[in-house]
Amino acid sequence: MADELNIEKYIYSTREKVDSHLKRILGQGKSGIDKAMRYAVLNGGKRLRPILLIATYQALGGSLDRRIVNISASIEFIHAFSLIQDDLPALDDDDFRRGLPTTHKAFGEDVAILASDLLLNQAYAVIAKEPSLNPELKIGILLELSTAVKDLIEGQGKDLGLCKEKKITLDTLNKINTGKTAALLVACVKIAGRVRKVSPKELGNLRSFGEKLGLAYQIVDDVLNVTSDKKMFQGKRFSDRQKGKKTYVTVVGIKRSEEIAGSLIARARKDLSKVKNLDTTILFELSSFLMNRRY
Ligand code: IPE
Ligand code: IPE
Ligand code: MG
Ligand code: MG
Repeated sequence: MADELNIEKYIYSTREKVDSHLKRILGQGKSGIDKAMRYAVLNGGKRLRPILLIATYQALGGSLDRRIVNISASIEFIHAFSLIQDDLPALDDDDFRRGLPTTHKAFGEDVAILASDLLLNQAYAVIAKEPSLNPELKIGILLELSTAVKDLIEGQGKDLGLCKEKKITLDTLNKINTGKTAALLVACVKIAGRVRKVSPKELGNLRSFGEKLGLAYQIVDDVLNVTSDKKMFQGKRFSDRQKGKKTYVTVVGIKRSEEIAGSLIARARKDLSKVKNLDTTILFELSSFLMNRRY
């Protein structure tokens, strides 16, 4: 790992590699579903999850190559699947994402739903087809992905039930956020650990790190939903409030939310420091960068 790390440059250059790989594997299909898949994946997106997976892999001594970028693409496909569904009228009913009409607004609900199904399917296929992984490792990665998708869907289910409830505690919100957001970040760091063949104990430490990072990430997202510059947050400002959605901000306010996010990050770093043979430099910087994001 480089002695002097410029995290913005690192994120930029890793994202470029992820983006061009995603573009390549999505192909040039001409159907509406193909176009909707490309629209949902390729139009912006911070690529936090692939970057987290790759950075963890590098922190554990791996080098950035085609294989790890390909593995990271499976996570971004799952993320895109979840965003298409999250925006649908039956879920959050959002018209804008990343400064553009949501996928169902651009292509219709029918095409959007099928595109999200196909992205989820492709996520598993990417791993199943990766030639450099042995069968045992493939199954391990596929199980990490399927566990994350299960937790994510359950978290989304709990999130949707919320609007009707009067009293929402932080405990309820933590359960929701652990599923809908942290589960995929956990999969990123654990998959990196599996590919580097770390012990079950280290996988446990990576999981604790990913979970706290994911919880903090969602709290920052909730804060940005009310504080961000409208342009920077790309048309979504106040969408939670308009829908009467209960979030960290509605339950404890902005200041306390920021404090809790900060303390989660501090605890996430402690978990990371417990992982043997891991250089914490990039992941520490990445976690600070994510906490200070403006969109
Ligand atoms: C949005 O995730 C949904 C959350 C879990 C907060 P991101 O903010 O990572 O979305 P993109 O991919 O960068 O648009
Ligand atoms: C994020 O949900 C989690 C998933 C999309 C799975 P939110 O509804 O809080 O995220 P945004 O604000 O729409 O991106
Ligand atoms: Mg949602
Ligand atoms: Mg939403």
